[in-house]
Amino acid sequence: LIIVIDFGGQYNQLVARRVREANVYCEIHSYKTDLEKIKEMAPKGIILTGGPASVYKEDSATYQKELFELGIPVLGLCYGAQLMAHVLGGTVEPAPASEYGKTLMTVDQADSKIFKDVPTESTCWMSHFDYISKAAPGFEVTAHTANCPVAAMEKAEDKLYALQWHPEVLHTEYGSQMINNFLYDICGCAGDWRMDSFVVESIEKIREKVGDGKVLCALSGGVDSSVAAVMLSKAVGSQLTCVFVDHGLLRKNEGNEVEEVFGPNGPYDLNFIRVNAQERFYGKLAGVTEPEQKRKIIGEEFIRVFEEEAKKIGKVDFLVQGTIYPDVVESGVGGESEVIKSHHNVGGLPDYVDFKEIIEPLRDLFKDEVRRAGLELGIPENLVFRQPFPGPGLGIRIIGEVNADRVKIVQDADAIYREEIANSGISADLGQYFAALTNMQSVGVMGDERTYDYAIALRAVNTVDFMTAEASEIPWEVLHKVTSRIINEVDHVNRVLYDLTSKPPGTIEFE
Ligand code: XMP
Repeated sequence: LIIVIDFGGQYNQLVARRVREANVYCEIHSYKTDLEKIKEMAPKGIILTGGPASVYKEDSATYQKELFELGIPVLGLCYGAQLMAHVLGGTVEPAPASEYGKTLMTVDQADSKIFKDVPTESTCWMSHFDYISKAAPGFEVTAHTANCPVAAMEKAEDKLYALQWHPEVLHTEYGSQMINNFLYDICGCAGDWRMDSFVVESIEKIREKVGDGKVLCALSGGVDSSVAAVMLSKAVGSQLTCVFVDHGLLRKNEGNEVEEVFGPNGPYDLNFIRVNAQERFYGKLAGVTEPEQKRKIIGEEFIRVFEEEAKKIGKVDFLVQGTIYPDVVESGVGGESEVIKSHHNVGGLPDYVDFKEIIEPLRDLFKDEVRRAGLELGIPENLVFRQPFPGPGLGIRIIGEVNADRVKIVQDADAIYREEIANSGISADLGQYFAALTNMQSVGVMGDERTYDYAIALRAVNTVDFMTAEASEIPWEVLHKVTSRIINEVDHVNRVLYDLTSKPPGTIEFE
């Protein structure tokens, strides 16, 4: 285990990814995590991430000196490097010239373990306005750049290493090499972590934790909650009850599809309860147009419905959540990142469900890793590679008010889009694609008559981890076919648009 201590920098999730890519298991924990807790986890190494603050300011994120005295190797990156210098008696101050972007760095100590197989000169990715002007006592300066005399420092006998640049960013030419050197040569990691062992270990851990307790899971039919539910079902079988709330904001026919897989006729050992709460949700959403308010209403109502079902079941010991890592980051609970959207699944917990503890078996996984876990669990491919679908469902793909009529429009348009993408054989190349109903009405002409109807927006993105995304290049003839089918087959739509925005600055969903 490697622990990544999060100081709120923008590349933190990339650090975790690079470690996983080296087949080393890692977890991200806040800088507020207690030292005792870190000791208990007994990591083979610790990585301190970048962060937006200045280490010498009073209220900045910091960590106590004892972290560096555990005998566990520590790698500080950017802010993490400055923090190491600051806490251990070096000097950090505003740099005369900040460095941003690709920067030439020169290795001064070729025999440093962190620079094994790294040439004397190479490009690194810098992003800093403070710098280490004086290395901490006992540390050796191991690299410099034109504007940064202490671009890297180390105290090899204590296994402490600091890099001012970001090796996790691909623009750092030998970044992966440096991270691998830290993991394999300095921490002694074997690099043998695999998804199959993660799955087996998770199931064992869950079984041990749950004992003969009762477990309750909110199943949405999406990839995350499905993988979490199957993992739980494999661990504790019929001690698990899954409640599936049909909030009327699912894709066309999806409620029935979920019931086929997880219901009594499906392959899994669990208790399945479907609640048809469509009207209730439409009632609460009537007249509401503000995106965050819609999200809150859907999230809260979901919890109320879920609670009512849970009350009928009575006391349970554990509650399962299908939270994955990007949810944690984007909701601002994983670190210092700003709240972009209040994700359904995170933060909002049922108050009145009588349970002891939460189980989040996927909390440390990225989306592509959740899918790999799903395959390991033997979940059918069509479910594992299903489109990710947000908790608030079509509610955030309908700009403006949500009601039954507008849900039907977006459901029908989306079904056509998905059908044509499947027919064209390009679905495997796309990360996520869907139709959204805009609140734009515009003039058209159909059969000699003037129309004044809605525009459907089509979106398709390529993405690895859903943190960044690019608009997909869908063949023109596919878009044409989808457009003409939607206009002809879906009432109240007279225009179809294709969204070319990447993330950032856009988000994948519209709200
Ligand atoms: P955004 O729109 O934030 O979406 O770029 C990133 C990914 O997250 C999904 N998403 C959600 N998933 N609850 C979820 O479980 C939510 O509230 C939620 N909002 C967005 C979105 O579909 C995309 O895959």
